[in-house]
Amino acid sequence: MSRRFGIRFEQPVSDLSPAAVLAEYRTAPGLYLHLPFCQTICPFCPYNKVRYEAELAADYLDDLEREASMYLATQAASFLSLYVGGGTPTLCLDGLERLLSRLPITGERAIEVLPKHLTRAMATRLGALGFTYVSLGVQSFSPRVLRRLGRPGTVRASRAAIETALGAFECVDVDLIFDTAYDDQQTLLDDLDRCFEYRVHQVSTYPLMRFGYTPFGKGDHHRDREHALLRTATELARSHGYERRSVWTFNRLGAPTYTSITRPYYLGLGAGAASFAGAVFLVNHFGLDQYRRAIGESRLPVARMARLPGAAAAVYRSFWQAYTGTVPTGGRDPLLDHPVSVLLRDLSVALGWSRRAGEAVTLTESGYDRYHDLERWVTYSLIEPLWAELMTEHDPPRPTGSGSDGGTQ
Ligand SMILES: C[S@@+](CC[C@H](N)C(=O)[O-])C[C@H]1O[C@@H](n2cnc3c(N)ncnc32)[C@H](O)[C@@H]1O
Ligand code: SF4
Repeated sequence: MSRRFGIRFEQPVSDLSPAAVLAEYRTAPGLYLHLPFCQTICPFCPYNKVRYEAELAADYLDDLEREASMYLATQAASFLSLYVGGGTPTLCLDGLERLLSRLPITGERAIEVLPKHLTRAMATRLGALGFTYVSLGVQSFSPRVLRRLGRPGTVRASRAAIETALGAFECVDVDLIFDTAYDDQQTLLDDLDRCFEYRVHQVSTYPLMRFGYTPFGKGDHHRDREHALLRTATELARSHGYERRSVWTFNRLGAPTYTSITRPYYLGLGAGAASFAGAVFLVNHFGLDQYRRAIGESRLPVARMARLPGAAAAVYRSFWQAYTGTVPTGGRDPLLDHPVSVLLRDLSVALGWSRRAGEAVTLTESGYDRYHDLERWVTYSLIEPLWAELMTEHDPPRPTGSGSDGGTQ
């Protein structure tokens, strides 16, 4: 058992049944599938991933299907949307195709795509699997920045991928990374200009987060420069007919929104995937061996579980909702109507961080700055320590190792 900011994380989690997990959801959740394989590992990347090996990936897809089967066997499983992330999901399309044919998904299907993989044939294949939303990990159009980030692929491949994607999908998101400790402001603004000229549906602009366990290691953030840059980016977006639709995304007016958090309540399958059902938060094993062992023993591969008291669940829900810049107040979600959520909204209005707009509260410019800071704090104070702990599951066992299930004490 470990405790973080008053929330108790239970471990190991051994007697959790799929029916009990599904019973926690008040409505059908969104489904997240994690495919943790990459051909090369980028030195800044904090996500759960391992180098691609065909046999390892094939075994993993079998396990993923078995994990899905545990939920499907309850009859209660149906999903409002699908989000496939990684890693590099396009390395595993054969296994994914088999799995998708068994999943009851009603809404949109979104997938993360490494630009150099998006040939016309790949776009056709993804379309045949029902994907209409894609996110391209472009990161920058500057060869210098790509070299520094150690990215696979070239600017030319990114351009070709955007052109292919725009002709094939309903919603095309381009991911950009900016680092005010390294680049001048103009680099991101030039990158944004290119995306706006392409008329992509959405551009995501992520400040580079420096996780201590990655080869990039820790680094400084220039808070004021980041705020100023995002404000300038917002003006540039407006001049091109785009709007800021979340803390870090800009959308063409009228275009759909691409987001991994479209659904506030989600079930995550795969190594490292998380699930949020309102009163419980779960994280699966990161290590492929631990994941595989649990599946082999017909157990859910959950490594950490936190039962959230109402107030904590309300804060979690309000936090992620506020990322979109708009929090509905119309009584559609009990967690957003919880007294703690109402208090947080009232406080943010009183402090000038948000304003009331009909049946919603929307972030002001200074509210976006504050949220940006809060998101960085959450990343380094909550997400990084949890992931760092779970990343140790990838470490080779010590000769005198305990051999315990979690392996992450
Ligand atoms: C799950 S990742 C990977 C998608 C895909 N494998 C790729 O690299 O194109 C999704 C996005 O997260 C962003 N990202 C990755 N590492 C980051 C970091 N350290 N800080 C901020 N954003 C990051 C990148 O923009 C990336 O495209
Ligand atoms: S950024 Fe994408 S390609 Fe690079 S290691 Fe992370 S998941 Fe893999």
